[in-house]
Amino acid sequence: MEVIIQPDAAAAGLLAARMVAAVIKDKPHAVIGFPTGSTPIPFYARLVRMHREDGLDFSRITTFNLDEFVALAHDHPASYHAYMEKHLFGHVNVARDRIHIPDGTAADIPSYCRQYEDDIRTAGGIDIQILGIGPDGHIGFNEPTSSLGSRTRIKTLTLQTRRDNAAEFGGEDKVPFHVLTMGIGTILDSRMILLLAFGAKKAEIVARAVEGPITALVPASALQLHPRTVLLLDEPAAARLTKADYYRYVYEHKPDWQNY
Ligand code: GLP
Repeated sequence: MEVIIQPDAAAAGLLAARMVAAVIKDKPHAVIGFPTGSTPIPFYARLVRMHREDGLDFSRITTFNLDEFVALAHDHPASYHAYMEKHLFGHVNVARDRIHIPDGTAADIPSYCRQYEDDIRTAGGIDIQILGIGPDGHIGFNEPTSSLGSRTRIKTLTLQTRRDNAAEFGGEDKVPFHVLTMGIGTILDSRMILLLAFGAKKAEIVARAVEGPITALVPASALQLHPRTVLLLDEPAAARLTKADYYRYVYEHKPDWQNY
């Protein structure tokens, strides 16, 4: 894993956007996996700016979102459909028919999930998957004890994750119990993974994911198995890493051709 520590979330968001822009410039029909949550907001803001100011062209990309709540209307303000519209899709020239967000309102969920996996494969696989991380180490909505080989499926949220989402829904009792999420196996199939984590409250789980054992109790620790995973952290999120100085030293001495 490559760990890059930036001074703050804005700087990390800019670097993440530059990395994604480089993928799109290199491969205009790239397949990109997008996350939600508060963490990627500065990253999306940068992508929108790059589209407006530098003409970054999204017209040929295909997108797959990580997850969505079950049985939640797409226009519900807390839905990830609404989130993506608000933060990215409403502001860039992405082709509507190449946007894929899990449909939590699907009538037959198991067959819909198989179709989602097929759609990723048919699109050629995900070139770059961007991720956040939950305080319990979940990626997408793969809660602790998710199989490290899991594929897109329905999951039940933990009480804590439902609590964490209470504000968006106007109360914990309004947060759905169920979600659809790409599996950990689905995520690991991506050619490149970029995980963003900001703030002191992520420091402990980031350290467990990067420097702890690979375990289903910390789903993000499965990323240690992936050959091209980059973690982009701000200083507070990096505070518990025992090898932070080494990660900084590696980044400072990257060969020019490897720079983002
Ligand atoms: C939700 C999302 C995850 C995200 C996590 C962290 O659970 N399903 O994909 O990583 O929230 O959210 P935040 O970035 O707001 O800390």
